[in-house]
Amino acid sequence: MSNEINSKILSGKEVAASVYKRLEESIISLSSRGVVPGLAAVLMGSDPASEVYVRMKTKRFAKMNLHSETFYIPSDLKEHDIADLILRLNENQKYHGILVQLPLPKRINTAKILSAVSPEKDVDGFHPENLGRLASGNPRFIPCTPKGILEILKHYEISTQGKHVVVVGRSNIVGRPMSLLLGLKNETGNATVTVCHSRTPDIGYHTRQADIIIAAVGVPGLIDADMVSPDTFIIDVGVNRVDDDSEKGYHLEGDVNYDAVQGIASAVTPVPGGVGPMTIAMLVENTVEAAENSLTNRLK
Ligand code: GUN
Repeated sequence: MSNEINSKILSGKEVAASVYKRLEESIISLSSRGVVPGLAAVLMGSDPASEVYVRMKTKRFAKMNLHSETFYIPSDLKEHDIADLILRLNENQKYHGILVQLPLPKRINTAKILSAVSPEKDVDGFHPENLGRLASGNPRFIPCTPKGILEILKHYEISTQGKHVVVVGRSNIVGRPMSLLLGLKNETGNATVTVCHSRTPDIGYHTRQADIIIAAVGVPGLIDADMVSPDTFIIDVGVNRVDDDSEKGYHLEGDVNYDAVQGIASAVTPVPGGVGPMTIAMLVENTVEAAENSLTNRLK
């Protein structure tokens, strides 16, 4: 550690545990009505990181006594065959949620595939209807990582009201929905939001003015000590594999230089154990919600 006084740790692992506790009651109530929330995960090709993520997600479902199944599809499958599989999953009552693990191989039109998922089963919140609902302030399913970040902020009583939040990254999975959510007129929004990305000339100029920094770019250690002002809250979404001489051949690093910002930032999420566990917890929550919705015809 470079500084004597450490920043507070925002433990996603701890927040996730409280989410699972809160979900137990809903799961029992669904079970008494003969419903076990079910997830269909679609994994295309053999990206090692994606395989790990899907395994972690399905393991958690098993731990919660929920149903989940992974559909492994070869990377050379035609676009219309993937769409056919998704349409079959849409109609299968066993699955309340459908997740297409991203990224898909480059030749695949990701937008087209994500649009094939029924918006009612789109527990990732990536369907354009769900993104449109989110953008207009009436979300159905909120994408899991941004939703998990809001949950961390809420748990640690870090208010976004009137705060300047700098989101670094504009991906459809994290940066874009995150910046939209923070700008909404509600209790987890009302922030002034700056979005930085690969074409931003001086990211530090913006992050130094932030009350809260959310780093989601996939560049190890990008947010360094000189880019952070005292008392900032930092959320690190990065999970970067960095090669080393260990048995595994790599270790994980966030987008934030965790050691360097100690003693400057007010609080930081660690990697691992920060945002990652929350993404999985929110996937479980969204799937439980989808199962509840399947029982009712309420206008949502
Ligand atoms: N790839 C990286 N993050 C995610 C996620 O939250 N959902 C899906 N489906 N793919 C991802």
